[in-house]
Amino acid sequence: MDDKGGFPHYMLKEIFDQPQGLRATIEPRVSVEDGLVRLDEVRIIADELCALRRINIVASGTSRHAGMAGQYMIQELVNLPVDVDYASEFEYRNPLIGKHELTIVITQSGETADTTAAQRLARSRGSRTIAISNVVDSTIAREADGVLYTHAGPEISIASTKAFTAQLAMLYLFAVYLGQVRGKLSKEQVRVHTRELLEMPAKVANVLQSAPDCERLARRYNAVQDFLFLGRAIHYPVAMDGALKLKEVSYIHAEGYPTGEAKHGPNALIDETLPVVIIATCDCNDAGSVLRYEKNVANIKSFKQQSGRVMAIASEGDEVVCKLADHTVFVPQASELLSPILEIVPLQLFAYYMAVAKGLDVDRPRNLVKSVTRE
Ligand code: BG6
Repeated sequence: MDDKGGFPHYMLKEIFDQPQGLRATIEPRVSVEDGLVRLDEVRIIADELCALRRINIVASGTSRHAGMAGQYMIQELVNLPVDVDYASEFEYRNPLIGKHELTIVITQSGETADTTAAQRLARSRGSRTIAISNVVDSTIAREADGVLYTHAGPEISIASTKAFTAQLAMLYLFAVYLGQVRGKLSKEQVRVHTRELLEMPAKVANVLQSAPDCERLARRYNAVQDFLFLGRAIHYPVAMDGALKLKEVSYIHAEGYPTGEAKHGPNALIDETLPVVIIATCDCNDAGSVLRYEKNVANIKSFKQQSGRVMAIASEGDEVVCKLADHTVFVPQASELLSPILEIVPLQLFAYYMAVAKGLDVDRPRNLVKSVTRE
């Protein structure tokens, strides 16, 4: 029996599954009235967590993009240094890790060979490991000291969507938990963070209503052969994953880049043949976010002067970006560290509709597999 739930492809079903996957991942682990995040499955005692000097996050593909966002979350909420590595590169840099460094491996399948090898290397050097996985009792989950399962449900499509947003939520939960354990966050602060996190499933459901707009954009941009995706700070990993989604399912070349780096090279590419997709949301309660937003507005203006075409992801009600960009998809207001959960959704939808418009096998793109179990 076809279990696509009436959707034409698993990828679209899984994009629309995201509110449920987020609820199932978040709700069992938070208590707003108690101002607590409960992650008993971490199975590493508080003293060890308090003694940590650094965290290494290691993953592949879309899971590494979640790890990149997790770096901003943990460094901002816990004040603890975080490094992020490609699993396939980890062994080559002779990672200097031991009992004071925690290694977090992120993996939807729990079977990726590069990530399995990276976790084994970390353990061999005395580092405790925590796996964030979407598959119970997977190899990587079984070999970790602690396992934080995302509850996104089975992800069939090769391009990862609902697992990614569930990983983002899980990393935010872990950052708040770590802040709680290490005394960086008060009960009231934990209460605020958990309340905001609990609002995300409904906000993602709201963004999903932009699906028709994304389908129209895919038709309008369908002849384009190259895209540049740009994001600053925690939005840079979102740009990276938006570009990866487009590459994976539509075979169109796309590059994710930090927005501030465009002037160091990519600007030379921007003209009417190479559209820019820029994440230009703004958390107006966050002074840093406002400053970055103002820089993004200046970037959009300069791209337009280069006769570039600009598609923007902006915050609801933003008339400035809407007037400057050629096309804008809006997402609800959210705090800076949580907004990636919303911003990736229109990019997932855009990539999906681009692939459909090209008549490609969306769920099984050429040359790719769901889990690379051999190095
Ligand atoms: C690739 C998948 O093979 O592996 C990607 O096509 C995925 O979607 C990457 O992000 C990592 O897989 P996992 O299961 O370790 O998250």
